[in-house]
Amino acid sequence: MFYSEEIVEEVRTKNDIVDIVSERVRLQKRGGRYWGLCPFHNEKSPSFSVNGDLQVYHCFGCGAGGNVYTFVMNYENYSFPEAVKMLAERAGVTLPEAGESEEGRRKESRRAKLLAVNREAAKFFYYQLRTPQGETGYRYLKKRELTDETMQKFGLGFAGKNGARLIGYLRGKGFEDEVIQEAGLAGYSEKHGMVSQFWNRVMYPIQDIHNRVIGFGGRVMGDGEPKYLNSPETPVFDKRRNLYGLNYARRARSSNIILCEGYMDVIAMHQAGFTQAVASLGTAFTAEQAALLRRYADNVLLAYDSDGAGVKAALRGIGILREAGLTGKVINMQPYKDPDEFMKALGKEAFQERIDQAENSFFFEIRILEGQFHMEDPEEKTKFHREIARKLCGFSEEVERDNYLQAVADKYFIGVENLRKLVRSYAASTGLARQPERPRPAGRRKAEPEDKAKTAQRMLLTWIVNNPGLYGRIRKYISEQDFTEGVSRRVAERLFQELEQGTFNPAGIISMFGEEEEQREAAALFSAKLPGLETEAEKEKAFRDILLSVKKNSYEYYVARMGTDVTALSRAIEGKKALEELAKAHISLD
Ligand code: UTP
Ligand code: MN
Repeated sequence: MFYSEEIVEEVRTKNDIVDIVSERVRLQKRGGRYWGLCPFHNEKSPSFSVNGDLQVYHCFGCGAGGNVYTFVMNYENYSFPEAVKMLAERAGVTLPEAGESEEGRRKESRRAKLLAVNREAAKFFYYQLRTPQGETGYRYLKKRELTDETMQKFGLGFAGKNGARLIGYLRGKGFEDEVIQEAGLAGYSEKHGMVSQFWNRVMYPIQDIHNRVIGFGGRVMGDGEPKYLNSPETPVFDKRRNLYGLNYARRARSSNIILCEGYMDVIAMHQAGFTQAVASLGTAFTAEQAALLRRYADNVLLAYDSDGAGVKAALRGIGILREAGLTGKVINMQPYKDPDEFMKALGKEAFQERIDQAENSFFFEIRILEGQFHMEDPEEKTKFHREIARKLCGFSEEVERDNYLQAVADKYFIGVENLRKLVRSYAASTGLARQPERPRPAGRRKAEPEDKAKTAQRMLLTWIVNNPGLYGRIRKYISEQDFTEGVSRRVAERLFQELEQGTFNPAGIISMFGEEEEQREAAALFSAKLPGLETEAEKEKAFRDILLSVKKNSYEYYVARMGTDVTALSRAIEGKKALEELAKAHISLD
């Protein structure tokens, strides 16, 4: 680890996880925990829980979980040292110089180097745009009606025809060729050595939400191919999880986000005052990006190109937004191709009108659908109506479905009752229009014995961390040896040790694990759903059952290993004894 365990703990305890999470996710208190919509997967009802007593979080939907560090790393896309820095600053803790250390440090410095080399390259392009070598680019951007202020805001630059300059500049700043290549700024060949990747292009630095340059898009001057050349994915450039312009849009405090296709669209929109505009990064819009947008607004307006490809992309986008629980609307750009052209031709007032008139995504889908049928042909018309019915079945809530049904019937002159009949028969024939199933985390199977053992172990640990006083009463029956899975064994070992010493600290235990996967498992061990029981007697019975189940499993576990493991025999004998004692014992919960 990078920082000492003490400092990591100090920073952690000074940042209440409930504060940190609620600055980013709307939370509601219910039954001793806080609940909200999980920021790490798309869902419509809250399964994301934060436990202020234990300082851990856990999502029952996707399994995400950990302590305040895990949360900040995932939410802000930070590495562990970056998360420590951010939280230390927030709590006013002065960090010592990071100590010497092994692999983590190398990984960290690799990320830091990539960010640094991108920053320097962005600076170089930026200055070059403003020199005689950059004149082509500057004139191009002026012709596209960008002001100097806009060019500055987006840090636009130029990669000149002499690519060797960039490489010389970066080497001069102390960057190794390897880093320059890894960032995608240059390639290497035997014949030519280091060759600059971007050449005769206007450069759009791509920033993450913390304004760090994570990559570039470069637009060719003239008609070369490809029109836009983008940096490859690198450890700091994840195209699925970032959006162009989001570093500004997140501060726009607008009730909506405008999603465009191109960098130039975003820039034109911001220049016109629509600072809530963003675009994906030369790739199709993703579910991860939708989850990102959900942090900032509930409504997303699609401002995609009005050509066939744009419509197709919009239809796809609508589906992704809907899955994410966001409301999508479509802005009509006709007769112009994209927001950039629209803005130039008609200006911002006209665009604001288009925003106000943005079409509900359902009606947009139906309208596009309509274009695929010849309405004079009764056969085709019926097919169209059936398609509408099919689409209506996508609304699982009856009131909503019926509202849409009436509206669409009105609009397309279909008898409401006829359409209702169509919907009913479609629903009956396919079993649709039922409540959608709750999404199940990938890979969950039917409970196998192993899972049952795991569940019992998890419930026992959760029960203990929520009632640490219980430990004293069961310590003679239980030990970490009863926990047979890797993570739960290590958690139990540390937890019991802390309980013996009276230094009980579940969230600190999570920091013990280096891998994110282990952190989420550890957090899950503290967050099991316990049976909601009424009477003391019921609770005592439930607790006993869990304890017995853990002991029984561990007994069987060691019996099965007696032949190969010399310690297993004595463990099995002890286990049998404990089980017998437990059968007679009374364990009081209070
Ligand atoms: P467009 O071709 O619509 O670009 O592609 P644009 O923004 O309107 O470009 P201008 O106005 O001609 O300069 C939209 C987006 O698709 C990605 C880029 O992110 C671009 O902004 N794209 C397009 C590429 O990544 N590569 C390409 O070759 C073309
Ligand atoms: Mn364009």
